[in-house]
Amino acid sequence: MANVFLIGYMGSGKTSLGKIAAERLSMQFIDLDEYIETKMSMNVSAIFSNLGEEKFREIEKESLAEVARLKNTIIATGGGAPCYFDNIEVMNFQGTTIYIKLSAPELAIRLKATNLDERPLLANLSAGELEEFIIKALKERAVFYSQAKHKVSGTDDEIVEKIVAIVRGERGRKNEAE
Ligand code: S3P
Repeated sequence: MANVFLIGYMGSGKTSLGKIAAERLSMQFIDLDEYIETKMSMNVSAIFSNLGEEKFREIEKESLAEVARLKNTIIATGGGAPCYFDNIEVMNFQGTTIYIKLSAPELAIRLKATNLDERPLLANLSAGELEEFIIKALKERAVFYSQAKHKVSGTDDEIVEKIVAIVRGERGRKNEAE
C-alpha cells in the first residue's frame, strides 16, 4: 500500500485520528512534526524561534521527502506542510492525500482545549482573536488543501471511518490493477 498523507489545519485531528486509523488498518503511523523534532533534537516552537519559519519550512520539505519513502504508512503532516514548495504535488505523487476539513469555529473550539504555546503561529493570539485568524488562514490555504485527493469531515468517529474506507477502497483498486 502506498502512503496516506493526512492534511488539514492545526487542531483537525490529523495525529490523533491518524493513529487510530493506522491501527485499524494495520499500517504504520508517523507524525511529520515529531519526526522533525527527533531529527533536529528541538521542538517545533524552538525551531521557529531559533531558526525562523523559513528554515522550518525547508526542514519540513526535506523531512517530507524522507518519510515519503516509507511504505504502508499513514503520515500526519503539519498544517502548513501542503502549502509550501511543491509539497502537495509530492504527496499526491507518492501516495494518497486526505484533507480533514473542519470549520473555523470547530477548529477554534478544539484548539482552545490545547496548549496554544506549543503552536508557534497561534501562541500570541488571544482566545477572541483565534477564530478570525483561522478564518483568514483557511482562505489562504484553501488553494492547497483543495488539491487533496479526498476530503473528510464530521465527528472524530466518522472521520476515522471515512479514512479507513478510503484506504480500503484504494487497496481494492490497486489489487484490481495487478
Ligand atoms: C503549522 C502546523 C503545526 C506545525 C507548525 C506550523 C502550520 O503542525 O507544523 O507549528 O503552519 O499550520 P500541526 O498542524 O500538527 O499542529
